[in-house]
Amino acid sequence: MSEKVKLEYNGKIYEFPVIVGTEGEKAIDIRELREKTGFITYDPGLANTGVCKSSITYVNGEKGILRYRGYPIEELAEKSTFVETAYLLLNGELPTKEELKAFSDKLNDHSLVHEDMREFFQNFPRRAHPMGILSSMVTALREFYPELKEGGEEELNTTLARLLSKVRTMAAMAYKISRGHKVIYPRHDLSYCANFLNMMFDSPVKPYVIDDDIVKGLNIFWILHADHEQNCSTAAVRLVGSAKVNIYAAISAGISALWGPLHGGANQAVIEMLKEIYENGGDPKPFIERAKDKNDPFRLMGFGHRIYKTHDPREKIMKKLCHKILDKLKIKDPLLDIARKLEEMALNDPYFQEKKLYPNVDFYSGIFLRAIGIPENMFTVMFAIGRLPGWLAQWKESMEDPDGKLYRPRQVYVGPSKREYIPIEEREKSTATEST
Ligand code: ACO
Repeated sequence: MSEKVKLEYNGKIYEFPVIVGTEGEKAIDIRELREKTGFITYDPGLANTGVCKSSITYVNGEKGILRYRGYPIEELAEKSTFVETAYLLLNGELPTKEELKAFSDKLNDHSLVHEDMREFFQNFPRRAHPMGILSSMVTALREFYPELKEGGEEELNTTLARLLSKVRTMAAMAYKISRGHKVIYPRHDLSYCANFLNMMFDSPVKPYVIDDDIVKGLNIFWILHADHEQNCSTAAVRLVGSAKVNIYAAISAGISALWGPLHGGANQAVIEMLKEIYENGGDPKPFIERAKDKNDPFRLMGFGHRIYKTHDPREKIMKKLCHKILDKLKIKDPLLDIARKLEEMALNDPYFQEKKLYPNVDFYSGIFLRAIGIPENMFTVMFAIGRLPGWLAQWKESMEDPDGKLYRPRQVYVGPSKREYIPIEEREKSTATEST
């Protein structure tokens, strides 16, 4: 018999079933809570709320564990490629050689972007942020490519491949156009990551030389970002998707959510912070003091995580990757020294220790991206390309979920009770104006 949780209120006992995940995580199934008791739950930020059952990604924030479909992130980062990991996330199993080839071929087949879309790109203001461009262009993709019809698996797979391949092409296109440079087309003979680097950096006057270590580094970077269960942007994809909107609009919502500095935008914010420290003499101490000051909204960017209360396992891999790539490219980046100093100081500071604030994946990722030539305003776009397989896998899972429902949270209303409308001539001084 399954376990039950009892809730006692006003002398009455209500029972609710317990759901246990494969890693032992327990949830109280409160679907009948309101009907049985009249209560709702209050959980700002949904920190204690499981909104779905999922078999894609497992995170243990206390132990610093991250696994995609059961495979530890450390092993995937070392042995897999981004395309193989994307296949794993979307399909649940690692591909055979044939399956991987078919998947890669499909990505190649769908890498071009409709020529008319270039017109759109050209008309964004030059200073437009690439994340804004990307989210608009992903919504626009739907108008160029037929929407999914119900039931067709092949059609669904084509749409998923189309998004995976074209978002990468569009990201590189946005960069080239923002610089006023010639757009470089995708090439069939290059791997997913090499192709992206080539589209970003090749030019008619200076051909880009593909470096296998950088390609491997980019594979690792994107594998680390490929999924992270019900984070803010993934929740946005699921929430918007629950209205049965088209897949492009759901993904575009995820891109918009990711843009925020508390989420994916943190990788750009970290570099801006490190630069500020550098420009102010290189001592992180005043910044740490500001982050601790309750009256200052400043936070140490790249520190803290909703789930991880220990080291983020992705940050450890990212840090190692940073050192490897900087050594290989013989780059001496003063921001890396500042980051290490800042990390050490924060980890030894009681404020960060008590609140269990550790560096997250974004802390070192910007230094890696800078080293391989990615401009700062493209950092969050790089995260978005990486997170795409996760968003797509989560969207797919949500569409197939027999328990899936339209997302519609409740609230505890704390505004005025019913009152009568007062004609404008009879109103005294506005209380709203007075209080502001
Ligand atoms: N610097 C200083 N103090 C912090 C930081 C930080 N980076 N992060 C959390 N705190 C403090 C808060 O002020 C709060 O203090 P209080 O309890 O005295 O009020 C306490 O720690 C808990 O903070 P919350 O915001 O409630 O924690 P939550 O789990 O909601 O926040 C978040 C997680 C948003 C990531 C937060 O740690 C943060 O803002 N970090 C900086 C931004 C960042 O790096 N984001 C990237 C996250 S990883 C990702 O999305 C890929």
